Amino acid sequence: MNDSPVRAAATPADDAIVNVVAVASGKGGVGKTWLSISLAQALTKLGERVLLFDGDLGLANIDVQLGIQPGMDLGTALERHLPLSRAVISYPNGGFDLIAGRSGSGTLASMPINRLQGLSSGLRALSGSYGRVVVDLGAGIERPVRYLAGRAGYCLVVTTDEPTALTDAYALIKMLTLDAGEQSKELPIGVVVNMAASREIGQRTYETLSKACDRFLKRRPPLLGVIRRDPKVRDAISTQTPLLTRYPNSPAAQDIETLAKKVLDATAGATPGAAAGAARQAKRSP
Ligand SMILES: Nc1ncnc2c1ncn2[C@@H]1O[C@H](COP(=O)(O)OP(=O)(O)OP(=O)(O)O)[C@@H](O)[C@H]1O
Ligand SMILES: [Mg+2]
Repeated sequence: MNDSPVRAAATPADDAIVNVVAVASGKGGVGKTWLSISLAQALTKLGERVLLFDGDLGLANIDVQLGIQPGMDLGTALERHLPLSRAVISYPNGGFDLIAGRSGSGTLASMPINRLQGLSSGLRALSGSYGRVVVDLGAGIERPVRYLAGRAGYCLVVTTDEPTALTDAYALIKMLTLDAGEQSKELPIGVVVNMAASREIGQRTYETLSKACDRFLKRRPPLLGVIRRDPKVRDAISTQTPLLTRYPNSPAAQDIETLAKKVLDATAGATPGAAAGAARQAKRSP
């Protein structure tokens, strides 16, 4: 693994894309892909125009969870030097657009930094057509993951209560802090605890991570959401239907909708809709 800070050779093209929300985790299997899909749908329901981007460059599987076979995907667009817009497909079931990845594409997973810069320039150009862009990242703390996380206006770090998931979430937050260098004080990172036995237990899991961040990194990323463990998630995935379509009143669906509102508030200044974000917040306040 290359541990050198990814911002070391930063260029203006490396600036964050304000309306991109990246979904990352240290450990794999904590629910990033499911959460990205569900968040995209919940943001759509809140009135945002959303693009879901499969940024898991090695093991892309948004298409698998949604049961679609895209004619064009990210890998093909990059191979043929096509603009990213050519890989956009609409997903009417969820009301959002998406760019699928290509599973098992080792070439994408080991993409050098200059090609990643090209990819993020393409994403920047596309992002102007959307209210929010949700990027599902691969697990781990390798360079491509950190590069894409670092380009996001906001990064959700997903963990569960498993000690390994917590340790790896901490490692990711630490690396992103190091990468951000001087700008790390305003690090736009929020924590999501997924598969929590209850909201209270999820809150406690967050406190464990938050204390470690405070002690060793001198910053406490806020808790953006707790998503309860819910058997309906697995059920929805196995039928390749989004949870908010299949079980809109299930506990996890409710938690995702609460998370989506928090994400909008946390990124309210991200679009010309900043005033709309503030208005939404005012509407929700009693
Ligand atoms: N809130 C939840 N309740 C119950 N099960 C869940 C929940 N969230 C995710 N899962 C389960 O976790 C599994 C893994 O989810 P997913 O593939 O989205 O994880 P991932 O973090 O994207 O994995 P990878 O790191 O391999 O990309 C899902 O198949 C689903 O069964
Ligand atoms: Mg995944």
